[in-house]
Amino acid sequence: MCGIVGAVAQRDVVDILVEGLRRLEYRGYDSAGVAVVNASGELTRLRRLGKVKELADAVAATPATGGTGIAHTRWATHGEPSERNAHPHLSSNITVVHNGIIENHSPLRDDLKAKGYVFTSDTDTEVIAHLVEEELKSAGSLLAAVQKTVKQLHGAYGTVLLDKTDPSRVVVARSGSPLVIGLGIGENFIASDQLALLPVTRRFIFLEEGDVAEITRHSVSIFDSNGNAVEREVHESNVSYDAGDKGQYRHFMLKEIYEQPHAINNTLEGRLSRDSVLDETFGNGAAELFKKVKHVQIVACGTSYHSGMVARYWLESLGGISCNVEIASEFRYRKSFVQPNSLLVSISQSGETADTLAALRLAKEAGYVGSLTICNVAGSSLVRESDLAFMTRAGAEIGVASTKAFITQLVGLAMLTLAIGKYNGLTDAQQRELTEALQSLPGKLEQTLALAPQIEALAEEFADKHHALFLGRGDQYPIAMEGALKLKEISYIHAEAYAAGELKHGPLALIDAQMPIIVVAPNNDLLEKLKSNVEEVRARGGILYVFADADARFQSDATMRVINVPHVADILAPIVYTLPLQLLSYYVAIIKGTDVDQPRNLAKSVTVE
Ligand code: AGP
Ligand code: GLU
Repeated sequence: MCGIVGAVAQRDVVDILVEGLRRLEYRGYDSAGVAVVNASGELTRLRRLGKVKELADAVAATPATGGTGIAHTRWATHGEPSERNAHPHLSSNITVVHNGIIENHSPLRDDLKAKGYVFTSDTDTEVIAHLVEEELKSAGSLLAAVQKTVKQLHGAYGTVLLDKTDPSRVVVARSGSPLVIGLGIGENFIASDQLALLPVTRRFIFLEEGDVAEITRHSVSIFDSNGNAVEREVHESNVSYDAGDKGQYRHFMLKEIYEQPHAINNTLEGRLSRDSVLDETFGNGAAELFKKVKHVQIVACGTSYHSGMVARYWLESLGGISCNVEIASEFRYRKSFVQPNSLLVSISQSGETADTLAALRLAKEAGYVGSLTICNVAGSSLVRESDLAFMTRAGAEIGVASTKAFITQLVGLAMLTLAIGKYNGLTDAQQRELTEALQSLPGKLEQTLALAPQIEALAEEFADKHHALFLGRGDQYPIAMEGALKLKEISYIHAEAYAAGELKHGPLALIDAQMPIIVVAPNNDLLEKLKSNVEEVRARGGILYVFADADARFQSDATMRVINVPHVADILAPIVYTLPLQLLSYYVAIIKGTDVDQPRNLAKSVTVE
């Protein structure tokens, strides 16, 4: 969940490490720390509670220099957020940073204490430092000591270790948490995300599960989990350098909301012919696989789960096949029935979400005909471990609240519907119509973004509310869920979503003038049903905020505010109606003064269970 950055260089690396942390801060952010060693073997460690800015100020006030160093932003799992629990942790000459959870830390801690090791933090991480020190007594090198140590660890780790008596190298290990090596000229780097290293290199090696690597200024040696030396491919990154900057925007979230039309152009580029989706879009062998598929099982978490829920409507109504969608953390812990010719589709912005990855791994044993991931991060675990990958190409998403990743996932899933549908009765005319609709999407999103001033004005009415209800029907129900999640995440207002037809089965009891009801109402075949639900709310004194197609003929009055959304084809409606809900939660959060990009208690990439 946290961010890791490390470097072995001739030049002073402190600023590179702190800048790297700043770029990773979105992943986890309750404390931060850095340790550097200079050529004489002097180690300087600085740690601060709070954001990277606190650490940067400390670094400015207490000059630290060194060519070899490691740094970390923490998202606490074991031990409260505090300076003493912040990484890096020490054991004599050994310094460590770690991302993840060591599940057997307790017995390891007891053993190490019995051997005389003194613990100075409450973290699970500290056992790694002491274990490596212990193993170093018999192992000939830091590398060998780390290889022996990782065999004793259960759980998930991306970890980087430094021995101050030998600043020429760092040793890194990965199992369950991502690590990427950045290759420089006469210097090399390590990080939990390539974004941290873009200012210094574009050449990356993504470590695989179980890998341990030794990194010096001039060499990178990688060993697999059996200790065999292995070569891993070098990737040239095309992620843009300024992805980590807010530009003219006050927050990354707002920047990312406005980037959506452009992101969708990227998602579509080169993947559509005039009247269909190109088969290669989903990778080699996709067409052969899709011909066989008769059922889709989707697994995902959070916002990505909501895009999966929309896809179920599309795949069943247009794609001509059955589809189940399940939260990955539920799917992985129950025995499920695998339908014949079933394709497992995982959806994830990061490609590293622990539960989603575990679901994919389980499914591999379970008899699916294949696996596809819809993912935003090239080289991520889900991409590497799935048979097929559709890259959403949203660009780096920094705001913890997912926006452009969600929208581009929906585009990917609409394309999947076309690609599978053509083998299951979707006619040429329907394919052409849907393809044209997708091509018109960036323009529709631009028009929808123009609603921002109206939505900003509306947000005033939410700031003093403690609860909100979101309603939708059909493929707008997941959009209502996504709207409620966005509002919860960044404004801390309790929000729930209901399929509008469910209101009378309980939630109507909640309706009063203090409970704003947000409705998403495109002009589709469920509109009349939805209107009846709206009347049920009005009759009970509820205040409604309706995002509606102008043709849906809702009228603003004392108890109903109507915002007209551009008219769109049915398939685009879930995508287009997401935007006003993103903007609404953003502006409510601004009024409430919350930390929009880094909401409390959350992390961008959830690499622990
Ligand atoms: C979205 O706003 C969330 N922060 C969160 O629900 C997220 O979508 C979820 O953790 C899944 O992440 P992933 O897409 O990277 O797998
Ligand atoms: N489990 C470790 C801790 O609580 C690492 C957490 C993280 O990934 O930031 O310190």
